[in-house]
Amino acid sequence: MKHLLSAADLTRDDAIDILDEAQRFEQALAGREVRKLPTLRGRTVMTVFYENSTRTRVSFEVAAKWMSADAINISASSSSVNKGESLRDTAKTLRAIGADALILRHPASGAAAQIARWTNDGTDVTGLPTTGPSVINAGDGTHEHPTQALLDAFTIRQRLGGLDGRRIGIVGDILHSRVARSNAILLSTLGAEVVLIAPPTLLPTGVSTWPVRIATDLDAELPALDAIMMLRVQAERMTGGFFPSTREYSVRYGLSDARLAMLRDDAVILHPGPMLRGMEIGYKVADAPQATVLEQVRNGVHVRMAVLFRLIAGAEGTSAPVHHAPP
Ligand code: CP
Repeated sequence: MKHLLSAADLTRDDAIDILDEAQRFEQALAGREVRKLPTLRGRTVMTVFYENSTRTRVSFEVAAKWMSADAINISASSSSVNKGESLRDTAKTLRAIGADALILRHPASGAAAQIARWTNDGTDVTGLPTTGPSVINAGDGTHEHPTQALLDAFTIRQRLGGLDGRRIGIVGDILHSRVARSNAILLSTLGAEVVLIAPPTLLPTGVSTWPVRIATDLDAELPALDAIMMLRVQAERMTGGFFPSTREYSVRYGLSDARLAMLRDDAVILHPGPMLRGMEIGYKVADAPQATVLEQVRNGVHVRMAVLFRLIAGAEGTSAPVHHAPP
């Protein structure tokens, strides 16, 4: 696998391999004072973010550094993008500088796939490897966020022991959520039953082709869920207003402190972050024992280590992971 652009790029075996690899990274680093493996020494990983991020950008940087790669962060606001440079020229520039991996967040759906094509078209300057960098989609518009889905799957598997046959509800603003689309694809690939629970106004056109069941009554679904994923309402992507109103949405689709009692005690509560406490998730719910919000963040580092390892070292035919500590 050269790039990770969509959860649909992953077969069931690919996804399980990445989750298992992430688990090995977690175990290899557990209890260490110095979290440093030599796995990607000499490789260069660049994060290129045209949208805000806390979790994804930082955890990719940490993942790269824990594997001894050189990690470079580029934000649109402090780069020559602000002088009008195109996405294509920026991507080709970073390839020419020597990126082994480009991790892109961009407001346009399909941007990561386009960069993968531009930087791997075989026409780059001399002296560089014939193939361009691996490209990882760290969120493209309302399309996909595959590493978020992988870390969510990892977290559910860790809590519940597996995903096969588990019923997982994804609740809220499905229309604008790249997390929802990637999770719907990946969790079904891994054998889970995915239920999207949302007002009809926050479902995308074409959702009937997704591998999911659709429901509108949250209270009716809660008791049978093994896991529930709450989504933030993405007001910044709503140019034409928001229906239902924020208050009505919160009352009907928020996992309030009162609703927590309707979930099974062993059900897992996920949120990709950033959370709006009091809107889609109750103030106390986010800190309840069933909630995995910070576990998700932590697991994201190990999952992203596994993805970087597979794309960069795997692409070069490295035969086995190097998980031992440096001498
Ligand atoms: N879940 C997620 O993508 O969070 P950030 O926007 O903070 O990266």
